[in-house]
Amino acid sequence: MKEKILQELKSNKGHYISGEEISGILQISRTAVWKYMNQLKDMGYVIESQTKKGYRLIESPDSLQPQEIKGNINTEVIGQNLKFFDQVDSTNLYAKRIAEGGFLDGTVIMAEEQLNGRGRMGRNWVSPKGKGIWMTIMLKPKIKPADASKVTLLAACAVCKAIEEVSGLSPRIKWPNDIVLNGKKLCGILTEMNAEIDEINYLIIGIGINVNIDLEDFPQELQSIATSIKIEKGDRVVRKELAAAIINGFESYYKGFMNTGSIKDYINEYKEKSAVLGKEVKVTSSSMELQGTIVDISEEGQLQLKLHDGSIKEIISGEVSVRGLTGYIS
Ligand code: BTN
Repeated sequence: MKEKILQELKSNKGHYISGEEISGILQISRTAVWKYMNQLKDMGYVIESQTKKGYRLIESPDSLQPQEIKGNINTEVIGQNLKFFDQVDSTNLYAKRIAEGGFLDGTVIMAEEQLNGRGRMGRNWVSPKGKGIWMTIMLKPKIKPADASKVTLLAACAVCKAIEEVSGLSPRIKWPNDIVLNGKKLCGILTEMNAEIDEINYLIIGIGINVNIDLEDFPQELQSIATSIKIEKGDRVVRKELAAAIINGFESYYKGFMNTGSIKDYINEYKEKSAVLGKEVKVTSSSMELQGTIVDISEEGQLQLKLHDGSIKEIISGEVSVRGLTGYIS
């Protein structure tokens, strides 16, 4: 009912609508209308009420609630089912818990706060309340498990483009899927998969974006390597607009990939946004450490690393540190 009242307020945005009118449309008492208005105010909606005129919506909160996002998305699959939490352990952990019971392809889980946000390599992910976008996209792609990393590359492209559109900043992608700005991390993506040898049961893409985080929200040890849109821009951005832009953008890349089975239409865009192409780097994985220059990124999304002996090594996975003046920066 609250959602329906909100809809009425939104379709009359800036104008008054009387309690009587709402109670007539929704077939509820005027006392109930008043009660729901108070609940909406508690959620952060600024609603003006005047005895003779009724109610007027002045401002909606920057919340990631489905009713705030739905009006801004134009997708067919991604985000058609939106699940929202004020607080959750981790949107990825939640997604994995529900995945086994079946889910609608493209389901998106959003949270205002994560108490146990997960990063790559078993790290924690700082996820303070109301200051970031902590979301997981749940997919059932009909592709080979080996191609799952391509979906992550597309997610990185979509996030990078959406940040650019909404904030005016120009972030870059640090292979494979970190979004960085001025050498500091703005967003991380954690993809997890459940698969058989030749088919994927489900793929979940966890996206964490430091949107309106202040420097002091990061623990001391991250303050020199992490950043947020607010820190870089000097101003807040509206999270619901950014979240919707990511959902819209990602669907378009994802559909293209599912239709053609290839990311070749997008790899140039990915390369243009790359923070590592042409750079001298160190690539580290559990089994090796290599130094060289990244000369290309293939249509398969693999790094082409030119080693000091001139040979080219193809890198499928690993962590890249770019060589700076004082050494390699992660
Ligand atoms: C990284 O280490 O770079 C990946 C970070 C991924 C964080 C996001 S926040 C939403 C989703 N839920 C999680 O617990 N992690 C991912």
